Amino acid sequence: MLEKTGRTVDYCREDNSLVILDQTLLPNTVRELHLKNADEIVEAIKSLRLRGAPCIGVSAAIALSVLANDSKQTEPEAFKREFLKNCEIITSARPTAVNLFWAAEEMKKAFDSCFEKGVDAVKAELAKRAEEILEDDIARCRSIGRHGAELLKGKHSFLTHCNAGRLACVKYGTALAPVYFLKEQGEEVRVYADETRPLLQGARLTAYELTEAGIDTTVICDNMASYVMKNGLVDAVITGADRIAANGDAANKIGTSSLAVLAKYYKLPFYICAPFSTVDFNCESGESIKIEMRDEAEISEKWYSQRMTPKNVKCLNPAFDVTDASLITAFITERGVFAPSELKNEE
Ligand code: MRU
Repeated sequence: MLEKTGRTVDYCREDNSLVILDQTLLPNTVRELHLKNADEIVEAIKSLRLRGAPCIGVSAAIALSVLANDSKQTEPEAFKREFLKNCEIITSARPTAVNLFWAAEEMKKAFDSCFEKGVDAVKAELAKRAEEILEDDIARCRSIGRHGAELLKGKHSFLTHCNAGRLACVKYGTALAPVYFLKEQGEEVRVYADETRPLLQGARLTAYELTEAGIDTTVICDNMASYVMKNGLVDAVITGADRIAANGDAANKIGTSSLAVLAKYYKLPFYICAPFSTVDFNCESGESIKIEMRDEAEISEKWYSQRMTPKNVKCLNPAFDVTDASLITAFITERGVFAPSELKNEE
C-alpha cells in the first residue's frame, strides 16, 4: 500500500490497520507492517519502527481511530472510557515529540463533537479526523518546503541531523522538504547527513531517502560537523524539531544543539523546519521539555557483533537535547519563516 501511495504511514480501511514502514529495517529491507492493536502500536513507537515527530502524531491519530473501530463497547460511556484509556496508552509511548499529544487532543475533540450522536457516529468522526490529520501533514510539509526553498535559494549545500525527511512525516518531511523543493526547481543541491549516534537515523534513513530521490548525499560521523563547517562544505544547517517551546527553544535529536553552537561560531545560518503542531505554547521554555532517556544498550551493544564497552561502564543515552532560541536563525514553518521571538499562537 505505501509503495503505491508514496507515503510513510497510512490508514488501511480494508483491514482496519495503521500501516507503517518498519524503519528499524531500513535501508536494507523495505517492509510494510499493518498494526491492529494497542500493544503492537506502542511497541512500534517505542522501538522506533515508526518515528519522527510528525509521523508519530499522524500514526497516533490513525491508531486511535483503528482501536475505536475495533471496540466491542456499545454503551457510549463505556466506549468513551475505553477511548480515553487508549489515548493514555498511546501517548505514554514516547515523551518528547509534542505531535503525539497534539494528535491525541485533536482526536479527543473529534470524539466529543459527536458523542451525543452515539458510538457509530463517533467511530465515523474519528476516522474522518485521522484522515484529515494525515492529509494535513502532507500539506503542511509541502508548505514548509515552499517557504524553505524561497529562503534558501542560492544556497546549495546543507548539513542535517537525524532524519527529518519524508520518513519522519507522511511525505516530503520538514527539514528535507526545502531540499526536495530546490531539487524540483532544478537547483543543484547537496546534503551532508550526520550519522546521528546512537540509532543512526542519519546514516540509515536520511541517506536512504535522499539517495533514492537522486540527491547528492554524504554521510559524516557526528564528530565531523566542525570540519565540514570550517572547510566551507555547507552553506546552512537545517534540522527538524520534536517540541518547540513558546520562547523558541527547540528540542530535537541529541546532537542538534552542538550543531547550533558550531554554526554560530562559523557564522552559518541554523534553521529549524517544523509545522506549528510541533510548537507547544503551554511550554514556556526548553527547561520544561521532558527529554526521553533510552536504553544504554543502544550505545554499548546495538550495532556491534560483540559488546563494545566494558560490562561495568555506564552509558548515558538522552535521545534529545534543547537548542537555545538564541542559536536559531529562524523557524521555517507552513505559515512562513519566523524568528524565534516571532512565534505566535494564531493562524
Ligand atoms: O528518535 P526519533 O528518530 O523519533 O527522533 C526524530 C528527530 O529527532 C527528528 O529530527 C524530529 O522528529 C524532527 S522530525 C521531522
